[in-house]
Amino acid sequence: MLRMLKYRVVGMTIRMNLGKDSYNIIVERGIIATADKHLNLNRRVLVVTDSGVPKTYAKTVAEQCKDAVICIVEQGEGSKSLEGFAKITQTMLDHGFSRKDCVIAVGGGVVGDLTGFVASAYMRGIDFYNIPTTLLSQIDSSIGGKTAINFGGVKNIVGAFYQPKKVLIDPELLKTLPQRQISNGLAEAVKMALTSDKELFEIFENKDIETNIDEIISRSLNIKKDVVEQDEKEAGLRKILNFGHTIGHGIESSENLSELYHGECVALGIIPMCDEKIRPRVIKVLKKCGLYNIIDFDWEKIAKAAFHDKKADGELVTVTIVKEVGNFELTTMRFDEVIDIAKNCLEGLR
Ligand code: GLY
Repeated sequence: MLRMLKYRVVGMTIRMNLGKDSYNIIVERGIIATADKHLNLNRRVLVVTDSGVPKTYAKTVAEQCKDAVICIVEQGEGSKSLEGFAKITQTMLDHGFSRKDCVIAVGGGVVGDLTGFVASAYMRGIDFYNIPTTLLSQIDSSIGGKTAINFGGVKNIVGAFYQPKKVLIDPELLKTLPQRQISNGLAEAVKMALTSDKELFEIFENKDIETNIDEIISRSLNIKKDVVEQDEKEAGLRKILNFGHTIGHGIESSENLSELYHGECVALGIIPMCDEKIRPRVIKVLKKCGLYNIIDFDWEKIAKAAFHDKKADGELVTVTIVKEVGNFELTTMRFDEVIDIAKNCLEGLR
């Protein structure tokens, strides 16, 4: 479906308006090769990447810096840890990084979350730029300032809201991404289309995804920008970005249950939270995106993981539901009600 993305030059700047923490998000094919035109690289720069990202990406960025150090962490969620944090911090100490220097994340969500968190803490905060290389991070996690590591078996439990100074999004980098990783990112775009952008959903329904990927990225970023500008610290509205994630996280975190990627789990979590009337359309789009994997669900494990071992009855959770495409409702339900809805829906799809 999306193996090779066709070349189409786009150049779009999206302004994230957050007062003194405002910044530009630039979407442009080939921008990684001209990063120095957009970022202040005339200082010491730590370029953080992981072992799964093509080496040329970090090298391309480093070559444009006055004085660059590249730090490579292991690919995978395991790097979002105190060890990952220590490795980057130690590299900065070893090379005498000061508060006036900066760090750049060149990678997916793990690299972005980890590097951003180190940047928030090193000398109480140094400049952080993000150059996301996966579709998921280009569409969602590279903007909005959520940074974190995992601890004690709990995802993202230690972190900070720390906005990047600029985000450069180069859709050309997706050419090296495996198909399954493209699907993984599309889940977040489908999520945003369902809650907030009927036209984006119709692109998924009626158009070729590959040739419209730049528009899918830009539209998703604009939705997230609108949400984050209104609710940076997730007091309310930002919860809609977690649409499908309660059950999705439950599926993802329930041990030995599946080998599914985050986006594949979110896709499953989205289906029950959509009204029955629109479910056939949603399922059709998820199939088109390669995101429809009905597995053997273990509901006890899912419930435990979704609600962090809290008692699965009586307690309340806010969930997003979509009754019509492009609109959402935030509603409060009991944990066990959410699980029942998901169970009835997903078991009925077998
Ligand atoms: N990815 C969800 C958020 O940034 O709030």
